[in-house]
Amino acid sequence: MAILEPLSIECTSHSETQTQRLGARLGALLPRHAVIALHGPLGAGKTSFARGVGAGWGAEQPLRSPTFTLVQAHHRRRDDAVLYHIDLYRVEDERDLASLGLEEILDDENSACLIEWPERAPGLIPPEAIHVKLALVSDTRRQLTFSTQDAQTWQVLLAFRKSAFGV
Ligand SMILES: Nc1ncnc2c1ncn2[C@@H]1O[C@H](COP(=O)(O)OP(=O)(O)OP(=O)(O)O)[C@@H](O)[C@H]1O
Ligand SMILES: [Mg+2]
Repeated sequence: MAILEPLSIECTSHSETQTQRLGARLGALLPRHAVIALHGPLGAGKTSFARGVGAGWGAEQPLRSPTFTLVQAHHRRRDDAVLYHIDLYRVEDERDLASLGLEEILDDENSACLIEWPERAPGLIPPEAIHVKLALVSDTRRQLTFSTQDAQTWQVLLAFRKSAFGV
């Protein structure tokens, strides 16, 4: 089900810790088959947010910047779910992109994905994705905007808003 006017939630983070905490709230609510597209310039806090998502999701190992490996798979103890952390910054062309096997990962019902620099993979990000835009406001402040075009995913964002802000 699509929503024609995309709905969004906005907030300001005042520190890296706060950005991670917001990520952890969303990670704890993440459906098994979910995609989080992390938008924003270099140093915006995409990896910081991703680290929080990993912690809230229950990843056994802390998420690190996947810049050099491009794709990192994370596991958790309680089930066989996988959380992929993908960084497309270094993807230069279609061939690079094809070599990552992103389509297969996105099709897998048991895996959720965090994608940094999603604009490098136009057409691959599904409409059900949760988009998180991070904008630099000052050295320590970031504006975060959460949105989706999918009605069911919007319910996840509403639960996230309740969990993070109580409203
Ligand atoms: N409110 C904040 N939220 C997140 N990071 C912050 C905040 N304030 C300052 N920072 C700093 O900004 C940097 C964010 O780095 P991070 O690696 O998360 O960015 P990124 O968006 O993943 O960058 P890249 O595009 O290079 O992967 C860190 O050095 C962090 O300490
Ligand atoms: Mg990063």
